[in-house]
Amino acid sequence: MHDIIRQLEEKRQKAHLGGGKHRIEKQHEKGKLTARERLDLLLDPESFEEWDMFVEHRCTDFGMDKQSIPGDGVVTGHGTINGRLVFVFSQDFTVFGGSLSESHAGKIAKIMDKAMQVGAPVIGLNDSGGARIQEGVSSLAGYAEVFQRNVLASGVIPQISMIMGPCAGGAVYSPAITDFIFMVKNKSYMFVTGPDVVKTVTHEEVSHEELGGALTHTQKSGVADKAFDNDAEALLMLRRFFDFLPSSNREAPPVRPTPDSPDRVELSLDTLVPDNTNKPYDIIELIEKIVDEGDFFELQPEYAANIVIGFGRMEGSTVGIVANQPMVLAGCLDIDSSKKAARFVRFCDCFNIPIITFVDVPGFLPGTTQEHGGIIKHGAKLLYAFAEATVPKVTVITRKAYGGAYDVMSSKHLRGDVNLAWPSAEIAVMGPKGAVEIIFRDDIGNPGKIAERTEEYRQRFANPFIVGHRGFIDDVIMPHNTRLRLCRSLRMLKGKKLENPWKKHGNIPL
Ligand code: HXC
Repeated sequence: MHDIIRQLEEKRQKAHLGGGKHRIEKQHEKGKLTARERLDLLLDPESFEEWDMFVEHRCTDFGMDKQSIPGDGVVTGHGTINGRLVFVFSQDFTVFGGSLSESHAGKIAKIMDKAMQVGAPVIGLNDSGGARIQEGVSSLAGYAEVFQRNVLASGVIPQISMIMGPCAGGAVYSPAITDFIFMVKNKSYMFVTGPDVVKTVTHEEVSHEELGGALTHTQKSGVADKAFDNDAEALLMLRRFFDFLPSSNREAPPVRPTPDSPDRVELSLDTLVPDNTNKPYDIIELIEKIVDEGDFFELQPEYAANIVIGFGRMEGSTVGIVANQPMVLAGCLDIDSSKKAARFVRFCDCFNIPIITFVDVPGFLPGTTQEHGGIIKHGAKLLYAFAEATVPKVTVITRKAYGGAYDVMSSKHLRGDVNLAWPSAEIAVMGPKGAVEIIFRDDIGNPGKIAERTEEYRQRFANPFIVGHRGFIDDVIMPHNTRLRLCRSLRMLKGKKLENPWKKHGNIPL
């Protein structure tokens, strides 16, 4: 008995040392924390229950039978974040470069299975050299086991990936399926083929950072949702982010009591929208003035910034916010913004999170780049996402809502529950100038006449009343009352029940 306990202690110590002091120092020298240090920061103190510390790989090729480390390069288990259950895996780069063996994959699969059964999110801290080369296809099989679980868990439990080191090759496809990807600047990268392969195949010379670093994925590709400066900041922000999410599709999002009154009046909103309809204003200012305590967690802030997405709370309950941003491309919808918002709307719908949509959209972005890039299919994604969503949907039109984009942006016709407009709203089939140039084509040579007709059109159509007459909006509200009206609407919608017709699954235009 004593002998077993002694052996147990030895194994524990060995597991805690991972790849050894030297490799831990190397990890620290790179400005990275170890797998266990990261879990210490992410989880509530003393809450971590580790599983499978004694699992080792079973590979005997390439002298691997002589090198084995308990835990096999990944620390797995469950713990809590602000008291709420979460399953975690944290890859240990000091052990065979965090590479994924069959046993390593088995550990990840085990916590995913349990997380699905009990209804708790999974967070993966990724720091890995990819497939364990010595294991060959066993490692590929391990990846596929994880991918399959990622897919089955999608829409059942929230899945979050934090990329804190390398994530290359097919390994990227597990994070790609998860709901959110965060990265650490200058420390992490993700690519399907690395710089050496790129050079051989396309003769391009590119650094790891440029090919797949945090800035590339948060600004150019849109693969990642947000980048943080270092491990500590990333993990603390992840705790903050986690608090917005429900534990599973069976639960409502958590409620956080707030001193912020639902009746709070924001007089500054009455002057937010400039009189000149071509002048922009910052939609984030509006969002921050509406949500509880100004606490808005924006996702993908540097990608497709013509649309803003993120989480806030109203009367303590999580809401997803989608908003056109007039400061960028005048708030037009284009390919990237449609894809960005569509995936977010679908996340909210999977997890019972009501959606507030702020609309100021002059239309879809015209041009060959957009048409040839497939704006028809990509724009349809956002339309599809809003149309299929059955969660409470409340929409506020602050200014422009023109053409097809009006329909797409959670309009009444796509089962918007409460659709409100500010007095500055202009809702019409197209903008006044464009409309006049079509209807009064003969006057095009006469700028004075066109200006007169445009003003006439604006007076007649560019206001909230035409759609008000039809019941396409439920009310015209004063901007300063927006928070109050949204809180009341969301309260009224708490018991909403709406089901789509039975189907195996729909066929969103991918
Ligand atoms: C086994 C690995 C490994 C791997 C790294 N190591 N990657 N061991 N399998 N895939 C080991 C190294 O041998 C080394 O061991 C230790 O981890 C640290 O690696 P370093 O190279 O010293 O670290 P660094 O200089 O920081 O470079 C990190 C790296 C590099 C860029 C990730 O290690 C690398 O290029 N590794 C190979 C990446 C790769 O090609 N993976 C397979 C991709 S194919 P010692 O004992 O010296 O400390 C793939 C397919 C997945 O992933 C398909 C899924 C569908």
